[in-house]
Amino acid sequence: MTNTRPLIQVRNLKKSFPVKNLQLKAIDDISFDIHEGETLGLVGESGCGKSTLGKMLLRLDTPTEGEILFRQRNLLHIPSREIQAIRKEMQIIFQDPYASLNPRMTIQEILAEPYEIHKCARGADKEEQIDALLCLVGLNSSFKGRFPHELSGGQRQRIGIARALSLQPKFLVCDEPISALDVSVQAQIINLLKKLQSDLKLTYLFIAHDLGVVKYISTRVAVMYLGRFMEMAPSEELYREPLHPYTQALLSAIPIPDPKLERSRTKVLLKGEIPSPVNPPKGCVFNTRCPFAKPICQTIKPKWKEVSPEHFVACHLFDPPASSSLPIYSES
Ligand SMILES: Nc1ncnc2c1ncn2[C@@H]1O[C@H](COP(=O)(O)OP(=O)(O)OP(=O)(O)O)[C@@H](O)[C@H]1O
Ligand SMILES: [Mg+2]
Repeated sequence: MTNTRPLIQVRNLKKSFPVKNLQLKAIDDISFDIHEGETLGLVGESGCGKSTLGKMLLRLDTPTEGEILFRQRNLLHIPSREIQAIRKEMQIIFQDPYASLNPRMTIQEILAEPYEIHKCARGADKEEQIDALLCLVGLNSSFKGRFPHELSGGQRQRIGIARALSLQPKFLVCDEPISALDVSVQAQIINLLKKLQSDLKLTYLFIAHDLGVVKYISTRVAVMYLGRFMEMAPSEELYREPLHPYTQALLSAIPIPDPKLERSRTKVLLKGEIPSPVNPPKGCVFNTRCPFAKPICQTIKPKWKEVSPEHFVACHLFDPPASSSLPIYSES
């Protein structure tokens, strides 16, 4: 991955929401890159900040602190007249296509809307583009006169994808795009997204609750907990050698179809509930649920360290030996 250009660079990103007199830290000091053409999987339990992060990358929400660069340009400093053009390059696919498609509009009207808003195709040209979009997502022009409720869940999500692709974006945030679908349909949508990525040279941030879902689509995977990244690694490496106890716990939650393997593997089980992001634990935010927590974990926030190429972890178990505590002798 190091040989490809970063499309997006996130530096020390923070986002707080005021809740009564307190601050809810939805994103707490996150830094990472997304490379051109890759899929970065983003995994974590409900409320950990995944959608908030996705929305900030699309400038649908503003960070409290930090920087987001898109093609080396700071998204937060782009003049408003240029925002429209940047917006065309970045789109979102939502979890529930039924909620995100206007029930009173036909598929034709839904797919025509982006062209009308951005004034980029009219008349026969627009019609041609809508037909091409439907074909791209495995549907056909017979769907144009139908309403969203006349479609299956999988077909509705295909329309959500077609709409997101209408302005030829380069970057897509897929916010749990298959969570609301039947298991049999989930694989079809994943395969469609993979095919579109290679045909159209797309870059994805793919958000999901569990590691099982992102395995087959992600180039790299980031694991998030209470507003912070716990671990990030190339996909194959993360599944083969998860380092952070939280990643290990998420992997333990995925059932293995082979009963012999399932019985023999070591499982990391989490205790307790997710703490409130309004009052997160001191030190490592995961310490209250970590089976391996040490005293230092309750007081000092672990650093985000690159422990092997492209493999990052924030955990005191991987701190280098405390050489600074050794006496230092000078040569003179
Ligand atoms: N506009 C807002 N005002 C106040 N709090 C918010 C707002 N948006 C999100 N939050 C809070 O920020 C935290 C992160 O929310 P977010 O929706 O990003 O989580 P998520 O990881 O996407 O969860 P899920 O998996 O359930 O979709 C949550 O505690 C949420 O309640
Ligand atoms: Mg979400």
